[in-house]
Formats: sequence, C-alpha cells, structure tokens
Amino acid sequence: MKLNHVIESQQFTRESLEELFDVARGMEKLSTQVKSLANKIMISLFYEPSTRTRLSFEAAMMRLGGNVASTENAQNFSSAAKGETLEDTIRVLSGYGDVIVLRHFETGAAHRASEVSEIPIINAGDGTGQHPSQSLLDIYTIKKEIGRIDGLKIAMVGDLSNGRTVRSLAYLLSKYDNVKMYFVSPPNVTMGSDIKEHLQKHGVSFEESPDLKDVAGKVDVIYQTRIQRERFTSIEEYEKAHGVYIIDNEIMDVLPEKSIVMHPLPRVDEIKYEVDKDPRAAYFRQAHNGLYIRMALLSILLENR
Ligand code: CP
Repeated sequence: MKLNHVIESQQFTRESLEELFDVARGMEKLSTQVKSLANKIMISLFYEPSTRTRLSFEAAMMRLGGNVASTENAQNFSSAAKGETLEDTIRVLSGYGDVIVLRHFETGAAHRASEVSEIPIINAGDGTGQHPSQSLLDIYTIKKEIGRIDGLKIAMVGDLSNGRTVRSLAYLLSKYDNVKMYFVSPPNVTMGSDIKEHLQKHGVSFEESPDLKDVAGKVDVIYQTRIQRERFTSIEEYEKAHGVYIIDNEIMDVLPEKSIVMHPLPRVDEIKYEVDKDPRAAYFRQAHNGLYIRMALLSILLENR
C-alpha cells in the first residue's frame, strides 16, 4: 500500500484496509525489541485535548523504536499563541520530523496542513470533520469481535452532528456490502445531510430512529458517543441532547448475545459503569486496538521513506 497523508476515511479502499489490518495483526505479535523506525521522528501537534489518540500514537512510535516530539495544548503552548498560522507552523515542523500527527479544532485543518507539508500528515481529528485513524481502529475492532463487516447492522447513538468518529466510520462502512446503519440521536444533533447523501449515493441502507431499545434488539454493534458539550454554543442546546440515550443493563438485556457495545471514548455518563463487566462491552478492547492500528499506519507511512 502506498500512503502519503492520512486525512479522511474515503481515501482507503477495501484492499488497502485489508493490507493495513494484516500489518496491525502482525503488530499485535511484535516483540518489543523491534526498531524498524529508529532514527525517525513523529511530531504530535495537538490543538485540542486528547488521551487515547495522542498517547497511543506516541506509544506506537516508541514501540517501533522511533522518537517523538510533542506539543499538547498547542493553541496556548506553541507559537499559535503569538498569532502564527497553522500553515507556517506546519512548514517549519516538516523540516524537523518525518511525520506530523495533527489534531485541530477546525474542520479541514488537516487537509490545509497536507497542502503545505513536506512530510506525511495524519489527521488525528479536525473539528467536527473526521477522525480517520479512529474509524480504522473501529473497523479493525468490529472484524476482530464480530468476524465480518459485510451484512453488519450497527446503531450509531448520541451526538451524530458533532461527532467526527461516526462520520469517518460511516464513510468506511459504506465500502462494505449490505451494511445497515441506524442513527439514534436527539433531534438537535442528528447525522449530517452530507453523510446521508453519501450513503444514498452509494446504496447504503440507513434508518433514523428515536427508539434505542427497539434498535438495540436487532443490531450487531451499538456505537455509543458522548454529547460533546464543548461544541455547543448554548448550555440550553446541550441540555436538550444530554442524557437522552444511555446504555445501561436494561439496554444490555435486549442486545443480542453475540453483539457488542463500542464507544470511541472518553465517556461521561452515556454508558453506565454497570455495563463495563458485561463481556459485550468492547470499548476498552477497542481503545487498545488503537495502538496496533497506529503502529501499522506509522510503519506503512515511514518504512522505506
Ligand atoms: N477517541 C479519541 O479520539 O479519544 P481522545 O480524544 O482521548 O484522543
């Protein structure tokens, strides 16, 4: 597979996904002694908070023997605070490292960065746009847990208008056959019309439903998401969406035995802690898979470069 920048889910084909997953499976068995990215430097440039994405990319790079230069809270602790543009920052950093992992609060920021960068850009989340490495680890997790993607029935639940993870996941799932998506969200945070138009154009079946319990009884995956308080312009709008759909033991009672619950995390209160001990709660296994997918991405991007 030839990869330059990783900006959006649509850039992957089914064949390139299979190649990536093969490499990720290899990473799961890899000895800690491997130094395939020795002398390479990954720059992580995060303008928004992160636990999983930043630290799993950094751990992935270190596990492959590479080095990391990192700026968290770049809005305050990089020269962005002095008025430097993203483009100027990227031009400079692309002379320092071999790959830049970028999280930014503006949709389209990763694409803008890729236009001026001399080295690969990985989109680690751009505003309400996309989060492609998350959707790659999501599909990898579904394959591991359920054994297939074709014919999958999945409920995406929660903040579907602000959630970049569900957008990237919908794009990736649209590459598979006979997938059915159920969108369950409060009325003020429904799935974007651009995604629905994409699904219609590609003949992907989807349904919007207000009834989580009904949907939970007929899906292979519930993909729960957080209501993203930080994206709302008023507390009143946030309160209308918050707490409407919660996964608890009552929902788990109707979820089929072989189905799973996923969540990109962090969770606030949209999955009750009582669910964690249910073997169908896959969200921490999902977060762990992020390490292997990110090792695979870095390895494909940087080896032989
Ligand atoms: N899922 C995810 O992107 O988590 P972080 O915001 O902690 O990176």
